[in-house]
Amino acid sequence: MEKIEAIEWKEEYSIGTPYIDAKHKKFINTINMLVDALNNEESHESFFSIYHRLAFYAENHFVEEERFFAQNNCPNLEEHRKSHINFVQSLIKFQKQYEEKREEMFPEFFQYLKNWLINHIQSYDRCAAEHLKHS
Ligand SMILES: [Fe+2]
Repeated sequence: MEKIEAIEWKEEYSIGTPYIDAKHKKFINTINMLVDALNNEESHESFFSIYHRLAFYAENHFVEEERFFAQNNCPNLEEHRKSHINFVQSLIKFQKQYEEKREEMFPEFFQYLKNWLINHIQSYDRCAAEHLKHS
């Protein structure tokens, strides 16, 4: 199987809110654990235990973020929420690909995840953080 590239945290991804930055780092770490499991061709059990951890982490993080941003009247909340839903749906789609052993799709999927995460952090999350600083 073609090796999948891990995501590397960069300082430029910081939104200036250490609490949320720490969450995003953990998010990236969990995605990378999944990358490792695939690259090392670990067992299905191992894969799914990490996959479920990622899905659980993502949902919790999104719910928490949405609640936090809503309480602070951040703009674009509806679009921000939709972007979260897209992520969760793509994870579900990926689970299907994994079960169908469509390994040729994996690198593309992780590239998508990486782009999603970086774009999301730098647009929606940063925008919300900026709003918090000025409110
Ligand atoms: Fe977000």
